[in-house]
Amino acid sequence: MTITENDLKMKKPSNRRDFISFLGKATLGAVLVPPFLESCGNHNNQISHRPLTEEEINDLKKLVIEGLPPTDIDDVVLARGLDSDVLIRWGTPINESETFGFNNDFTCFIPIEEGVEDDGLLWVNHEYVDTLFITGYNRSTDPRPRKKEDVDREMKEVGGSIIRVKKIDGKWTFIPDDPLNRRIDGKTEIPFAWPEPIMGKRSAIGTLSNCSGGITPWGTILTCEENYEDFYGHAPGDFSAGYEVGRTWTGWDEVYPYPSEHYGWVVEVDPFTGEAKKHVSLGRCSHECATLKRLEDGRIVAYTGDDQKNEHIYKFISSKPDSLEEGTLYVADTENGIWLSLDYESQPILQKHFSSQTEVLIRLRYAAKLLGATPQNRPEDIEIDPLTGHIFIALTNNKPKKDYHGEILKIKERDGCYDALEFEAETLIAGGKETDFSCPDNLAFDMSGNLWFTCDMSSGDMNNLLKPQYWPFKNNSLHVLIRHGEDAGKIIRVVSAPIQAELTGPWFSPDNKTLFLSVQHPGEKTNDLDHPTSTWPHDGDNIPKPSVITIEGPLLDKLNRLQELVEG
Ligand code: FEO
Ligand code: CA
Ligand code: CA
Repeated sequence: MTITENDLKMKKPSNRRDFISFLGKATLGAVLVPPFLESCGNHNNQISHRPLTEEEINDLKKLVIEGLPPTDIDDVVLARGLDSDVLIRWGTPINESETFGFNNDFTCFIPIEEGVEDDGLLWVNHEYVDTLFITGYNRSTDPRPRKKEDVDREMKEVGGSIIRVKKIDGKWTFIPDDPLNRRIDGKTEIPFAWPEPIMGKRSAIGTLSNCSGGITPWGTILTCEENYEDFYGHAPGDFSAGYEVGRTWTGWDEVYPYPSEHYGWVVEVDPFTGEAKKHVSLGRCSHECATLKRLEDGRIVAYTGDDQKNEHIYKFISSKPDSLEEGTLYVADTENGIWLSLDYESQPILQKHFSSQTEVLIRLRYAAKLLGATPQNRPEDIEIDPLTGHIFIALTNNKPKKDYHGEILKIKERDGCYDALEFEAETLIAGGKETDFSCPDNLAFDMSGNLWFTCDMSSGDMNNLLKPQYWPFKNNSLHVLIRHGEDAGKIIRVVSAPIQAELTGPWFSPDNKTLFLSVQHPGEKTNDLDHPTSTWPHDGDNIPKPSVITIEGPLLDKLNRLQELVEG
């Protein structure tokens, strides 16, 4: 099924009742399936389910679920019943020698010990740099080549941070100088988890473009390298549109000519030791995320998408329990509902064009196209619906195909088996004026299975007189698709981002009382440091700072408990 704009129109359910049924029968009947939250996406294994008191039930029932209108003000704007706090911002020292990096994205909370809800490590991705804010280098006007000391400085701003966070006096607090605080960055040497060298090396220097990610059932985190070409260019054979080989806007490749083939991988990090490895078996592309499911026999299924126009959706099925190293990678043919094997040994067409499985995994996009995989409209985050078990995939947009607002795609694996090689795919919900969102990106489910999703219109598209398609939405926002009760099927805007920012990395605390959320690239279109386009978080420095915030409040409590409130 190729999803055209016409399809989107046809598939958009005509009224809310149809839409509720479209979501899956779990939202229709009186008997609701309890969320099976053991899946390893953006929700936690340890859910405390303290029974609500009668008073709490009455208070929550009284609270009206009401979203925000679009807004273009330079602040984090919250729906009634929500409150927020900045947890940590760019530049904050995390120990004697390291600071919290730039453009934070994916967040993931790992309890300090099993069962502990109020103390743990927060992993935070740092996706890319804005050289103007970090080293003062203006890419539009300043001369090349880049200075080595500036590139060295910028390399410290990408990768990820591991920070200790504790709930103190009821408030999540960053603990500076905790011995577990550490950085992984553009300088960290990371081995490949693969028996053969990649471009002659067993390890890469650094991880970068860390967009979204995932968590493994064994408690490590996955951080996904997305737009690696911004730093080290495309390799020969990476034919998606963008930059010439070896010529990037950051100019890092002029200073450090590292092979592009060392980037574009899913990277696994142990948050307690900092040990990291790059998983070659999941292939090389602009990985947005990696979402895992452990099968009954312990084998792992990992879903991941390539966030480039007309690129693909992938699924890895391990051949051994708890392995991300041994198994087979597949790519989705959504027209015919088939997962196509990227196994070199069993695919003559791959043998004709490549010399080995390693080469197939490095030139993944080319291999996928040779097999006839379906081009997608930029696959972003992937999550497994706790109510139906279906796979939800944000397809953010594809402007050359006139898909300006994207959609959320639903994949139903055959017989509900995650290792099935056949599936059905259909649009769950399309962005646009009618649904009041555009360009869906990160996804997260709360305890009741409501779908929280962020939107990522580009900084150049938002509030731009020349881009009327995006006028109705104003700033990027966080939305919730409600799945129970009289509001089921409604989509409400619950948080609006500061100017030119994107909200990313939504992750619920183990007790689901708090949502960790990244505010990425506020003031991204700034050209003059004396006149930044945003000054959020308004801390007196007259400069925008990407930061992680916490969101709490009765509206969040109500949505989390909606299923039981509705069921009585
Ligand atoms: Fe970094 Fe696909 O967003
Ligand atoms: Ca993203
Ligand atoms: Ca995006």
